[in-house]
Amino acid sequence: MVLDKNNIPKHIAIIMDGNGRWAQKRGLSRAQGHRAGLNIVREITRASREIGVKILTLYAFSTENWKRPEREVAALMRLLERLLRKELPSFHKNRIRLRAIGRLDGLPPRVQEALNDAIRATEKNDGVTLNLALNYGGRAEIVDGAKKFALNVKEKGYVIDELNEESFGEYLYAADLPDPDLLIRTGGERRLSNFLLYQLSYTEIFITSIYWPDFKKANLLEAIADYQQRNRKFGSI
Ligand code: IPE
Ligand code: IPE
Ligand code: MG
Repeated sequence: MVLDKNNIPKHIAIIMDGNGRWAQKRGLSRAQGHRAGLNIVREITRASREIGVKILTLYAFSTENWKRPEREVAALMRLLERLLRKELPSFHKNRIRLRAIGRLDGLPPRVQEALNDAIRATEKNDGVTLNLALNYGGRAEIVDGAKKFALNVKEKGYVIDELNEESFGEYLYAADLPDPDLLIRTGGERRLSNFLLYQLSYTEIFITSIYWPDFKKANLLEAIADYQQRNRKFGSI
């Protein structure tokens, strides 16, 4: 696949869906599906760096995913902790900078610790920013931002009329990251599932029926090639 090097999406966000169905199709447990999904995180992060994507935001656990059976949630948290601890050397080797968005203080303490360690250890890496959405909800993010602003009004004399669409961005979880250019959803569902509601306003959307554990570098290239055919208008003509 030939990509236009001058039109690589700077920020790609992915709803990594379909681990459960992938496992079910093979008679495996859902946890095994999540384990297979984890290997793909590794592969796609590396591929993104090779392609020249600057930021990769991955939806790994939503504020609604707590509704799942306790066993599945526990398995997901264990896998996450393992990724953060085990992959640290390879994060360095591949110059990956780790970040996270979400209500991180709601994660199990062990995961928070592994996360903070990995974020701190990789903050100087300049290859690709891997931004994990964990205990993340788009509505929660907007509400949390509104609360932060309200507190600034109350305690620091901020002026309500000075808040606008741009300055509100400073109250989001990752104020320094630009909006995604491309959103990919695997697993075929055609919905946002509470992902990046504020940031996706003008993001190009690519949906594939491929389950996340089957998503390969070639599929990422295909999504980017499709993106490169789009005419982004941002409301203009
Ligand atoms: C996505 O796969 C992974 C997470 C939500 C953590 P699912 O577990 O939602 O897989 P399906 O949608 O049931 O196939
Ligand atoms: C979205 O997938 C959340 C993540 C990928 C982490 P879900 O499987 O939770 O979404 P729904 O329930 O199908 O909308
Ligand atoms: Mg799902």
